[in-house]
Amino acid sequence: MAMQQKSTNKQIGESPMLRDVVEGLSQSPKRLPSKYFYDSAGSQYFEEICELEEYYPYRTELAMLPSIAQDISHTLQHDWDVVEFGAGSLVKIRLLLKHLPQIKRFLPIDIAGDHLQAAATKLKREFPELDIQPIAADFTNRVELPDTESTKKLGFFPGSTIGNFSPEQAVTFLEHARQSLGQGALLLIGVDTKKSPDILHRAYNDKLGVTKKFNRNILTHINREALADFDEDKFEHYAFYNPAEGRIEMHLISRERQQVSVDGYRFEILEGENIHTENSHKYTPEEFLALAARAGWRSVRKWLAGKQLFSVHLLRADD
Ligand code: AVJ
Repeated sequence: MAMQQKSTNKQIGESPMLRDVVEGLSQSPKRLPSKYFYDSAGSQYFEEICELEEYYPYRTELAMLPSIAQDISHTLQHDWDVVEFGAGSLVKIRLLLKHLPQIKRFLPIDIAGDHLQAAATKLKREFPELDIQPIAADFTNRVELPDTESTKKLGFFPGSTIGNFSPEQAVTFLEHARQSLGQGALLLIGVDTKKSPDILHRAYNDKLGVTKKFNRNILTHINREALADFDEDKFEHYAFYNPAEGRIEMHLISRERQQVSVDGYRFEILEGENIHTENSHKYTPEEFLALAARAGWRSVRKWLAGKQLFSVHLLRADD
């Protein structure tokens, strides 16, 4: 169903979220960008997901990091800046900081600015020597780093957030990251692996329904920031593993035929119609390294958790 132009003279270009939402809901199938999960409530829900028994990626990677930090200690001579993409609550960086005094400056980037600021203030209390410069930005766009050229950069992109990009977008992101991190950069990146669909399925369909709340919260976030009137209860959470695409897909399925308004733009959603909210791609180590190579990164080392549950790669910029 086509959208109707609203009658005011407001420019749609004025809010990136409004533009993205109107564009996404005008497509067939409808979709919403997964970055809009992360308002304060959504960041909180994601933290709850990380505590779930079913959600293995978080705790598996967390358990790998202390020994990874020790393993890379000799690779990091002299001083380093760490740039973290999608930094969230800054739990994982602590594990690096504890073992790597070479890290002198920390530049966490996150779209949820308030959440990031609070987390950065807390971190500063624990590591008073560390120079912390939080950057509230959407890292799916190219982020301009403050001028700190003299120090080498270690990019840190944990949690398999890279999986939210399509493979093509992942290559673009990795190229941009290589350019902004500069010559001699390293990138430590967590990537969820292909595995039994049963394990994958349970990770996105938890018994307590936290993932359902997280998925539906995207609508509440959009209601508040793009003046929409979604009713969360009219949508069902649906997540499944698509083996042909190598990804978990999350959708919201409309329980009934309904009209939704987004800052005056009206959309009809049919009973059973889906809104695609997230892709979470899974890569074998070989697949991921082939992707990274296309973006100018070569493998220095990789770590695999037991039963290939999760992978972490250290990459070096080809320059
Ligand atoms: C933060 C993107 C890595 O894809 O597993 C968790 C987000 N979505 N449960 C993921 C998420 C549903 C998560 N990432």
